[in-house]
Amino acid sequence: MPRNCVARAVIKEGKALLYIPDPAQAIAPHGIEPAWLEVFYNPRMEFNRDLSVVALSVYREHLAPVKDFYVAEPLTATGVRPIRYAIEVNGDLKLVAGDIDECAVSFARDNVRLNGLDEVVAVYHKDARELLFATRWILDRPPLVVDIDPFGSPAPYLDAAISVIGNKGLLAVTATDLAVLEGSKHRAALRKYGVSIRKTPESKEIGIRVLLGYIARIAASHDKAIYPLLSYYADHYIRIYVQIMRGARRADRMLEESLGYAYYCPSEKRTYLIRDPPSCTGYESPVPIGPLWTSNLNDVNFIVKLIDETSVREYLNTQTRIMDLLNTIKCEAELEEYGLHLRVEQAASFARTSMPRIEALLSTLEDAGHRACRSHYSPTSIRTSADYKEVIRFLLASL
Ligand SMILES: C[S@@+](CC[C@H](N)C(=O)[O-])C[C@H]1O[C@@H](n2cnc3c(N)ncnc32)[C@H](O)[C@@H]1O
Repeated sequence: MPRNCVARAVIKEGKALLYIPDPAQAIAPHGIEPAWLEVFYNPRMEFNRDLSVVALSVYREHLAPVKDFYVAEPLTATGVRPIRYAIEVNGDLKLVAGDIDECAVSFARDNVRLNGLDEVVAVYHKDARELLFATRWILDRPPLVVDIDPFGSPAPYLDAAISVIGNKGLLAVTATDLAVLEGSKHRAALRKYGVSIRKTPESKEIGIRVLLGYIARIAASHDKAIYPLLSYYADHYIRIYVQIMRGARRADRMLEESLGYAYYCPSEKRTYLIRDPPSCTGYESPVPIGPLWTSNLNDVNFIVKLIDETSVREYLNTQTRIMDLLNTIKCEAELEEYGLHLRVEQAASFARTSMPRIEALLSTLEDAGHRACRSHYSPTSIRTSADYKEVIRFLLASL
């Protein structure tokens, strides 16, 4: 093997056996730092991968019940994703994986062999974009699933991914550059995603909408449209699953209906997802953020099927956490049309009241005929059909 590409440990993740690099290479003050390992492997991302297995299974069964099911994962590191998809997603799959790093390719190929998948998973030593374009020759038809799971921003890989993916294909994207997507690095956000942005209380959801908006604009340039199935934030990353549909008219409609701006009112500590700028309390002007995705982030039917599929996968180490997340997102998805999730501590600070108990606030809203539930973005976030002014009134009334 080149460099020090010596596998040091064998672990089991999901139903896959994996050689992983020696964790002693990467001991940081906060624990193991995956980026310091000879080859990237982050045990904390097992949750992300478990949910990916579930998402691909549901997509395959309900949205793409075809015989030739091809998957591309061009930033593969140890090869854990394609191997797990090959073993754990029902039915036959053919997978193409790759990495620019020779050590990663050695690990991934050894792992493919370890799991007896030489006929199913092919691993290439290529730049991700080169590999994506080469799928045209490697496979006899376009990949139906492309999984982009980089360290940092997915932006450099999205054009290639969207251009090669098959019609009605599933694009899965991880983004860990949250300082950019959430508005702390506004110059980088303009550079990488072409958006004007600033940090707001709802920045995690804004980050998802910025990423989706960027993907939508790239898709439109290829006469394609996107349809979000699942979008979530966890452990300092964003993960989204969108279906990519061919059609220039569809793309036009998507841009017209689903791309726009959010407006932040600093004095109100609130961002509004509306067509026209609001008039903010006081003399401050609303700050436009965008362009970003203004339509729904999740498909309720898809989420329900994910819940069913997760419930029968008892072997998943993160089954309970996935169920909790999906159940929260299901309720959120039903309330997305009413605007962004709401950070109750920010609302309480604007209203100059003390922080209420979240359960008590949810009951108050429901007693008044509104719908309301917790949001997955933080323990103090909710979604509700009540507008911001009403929430503020409830907070003042509870004094
Ligand atoms: C975050 S890791 C991938 C983790 C993996 N998907 C998993 O679930 O464990 C990112 C990988 O992308 C590889 N990489 C970085 N730039 C690349 C490029 N331009 N083309 C292909 N691979 C690249 C790195 O070598 C690294 O192994």
